[in-house]
Amino acid sequence: MRNISKAVMIMLVLCLSVSVFAGGTPDQGGSNMIGVAMPTKSLQRWNQDGAYLKEKLEANGFTVDLQYANNDVSTQVNQLENMITKGCKVLVIASIDSTALKGVLQQAADNGVKVVAYDRLIMETPNCDYYATFDNYKVGQIQGEFIVDKMGLASGKGPFNMEVFGGSPDDNNAYLFNQGAMDALKPYIAKGQLVINSGQTDMSVIAIKAWKPEGSQARMDNLLTAYYADKKLDVVLSPNDSLAQGIVASLKAAGYGSADKPFPVLTGQDCDKINVKMMINGEQSMSVFKDTRTLAERVVIMVSDIMNGKTPEVNDTTNYDNGVKVVPSYLCVPVFADKNNYKQILIDSGYYKESDLK
Ligand code: BGC
Repeated sequence: MRNISKAVMIMLVLCLSVSVFAGGTPDQGGSNMIGVAMPTKSLQRWNQDGAYLKEKLEANGFTVDLQYANNDVSTQVNQLENMITKGCKVLVIASIDSTALKGVLQQAADNGVKVVAYDRLIMETPNCDYYATFDNYKVGQIQGEFIVDKMGLASGKGPFNMEVFGGSPDDNNAYLFNQGAMDALKPYIAKGQLVINSGQTDMSVIAIKAWKPEGSQARMDNLLTAYYADKKLDVVLSPNDSLAQGIVASLKAAGYGSADKPFPVLTGQDCDKINVKMMINGEQSMSVFKDTRTLAERVVIMVSDIMNGKTPEVNDTTNYDNGVKVVPSYLCVPVFADKNNYKQILIDSGYYKESDLK
């Protein structure tokens, strides 16, 4: 009898250690922990997104495990695995590579963990439960329509020389920004009012990996040398602010920014502090403001509903197909920003302090 119970004890201990070492059974008992996985600290917006999410989730009584992955896919996968093992009930994820999370999200589903894609859709998996973002096509449309207005294209002006940049090829948003902008610009390219001297418009050649300013600077350097030695560049479509920073650095080095060689009209997105200063200085023409407070608030509502067994409210059930399913989405509204309205939308709303922009 004593031997039998000893054997049972040994078996129990063995089973427990195997499950612990395999990182197996997460502690899900009573946990109200939410995992928040952000891509990188290197861009201003993700620091703000992470901070707001943490603050607002905590204010709603949740415990938060917030991680940044230094734009490294395997780091993000490890962080998500840890969150599942720690017993997080919901994962809020701004992915680095939209197609790289299939495995870890299967693990999440197997453990009953729900997944909210944050800002960037997670592709090729059935295990992305909800998506909260800004209307990404609309962001591109605002940029494209700005160029149409600013250059007087609808009243026949031109021809103007233009070049086009794309966002990171592993980010689904990059394709939507491009589509929204190009749908507005294509009629004027077809009519010859906008001339792309490099001929480069396909995402396979214009996309800049990881949204790095160094990448857009290098590509702009190459374009200026190859196609603009004896021509002036009038317009640059940049999908976001980090790429606009690299583009402006390149333009400055090539002598743009003087009376006889003014900066081209240049778009952006995010209203990063550096770029708002660039707008004030006339180096960048516009940006698109996506109030991270609005997105974070929406995600907190989604998370609370999931945790309370309710179905979260969405406002788009058709547009965000991740290749496996249409992910129920909530789209927030992006807002046009330039040097004329930045005070109203950024300072008066308390998003930045005047001193942030000095
Ligand atoms: C976001 C943009 C951001 C870019 C680079 C995109 O997925 O929607 O707001 O500028 O990533 O971080």
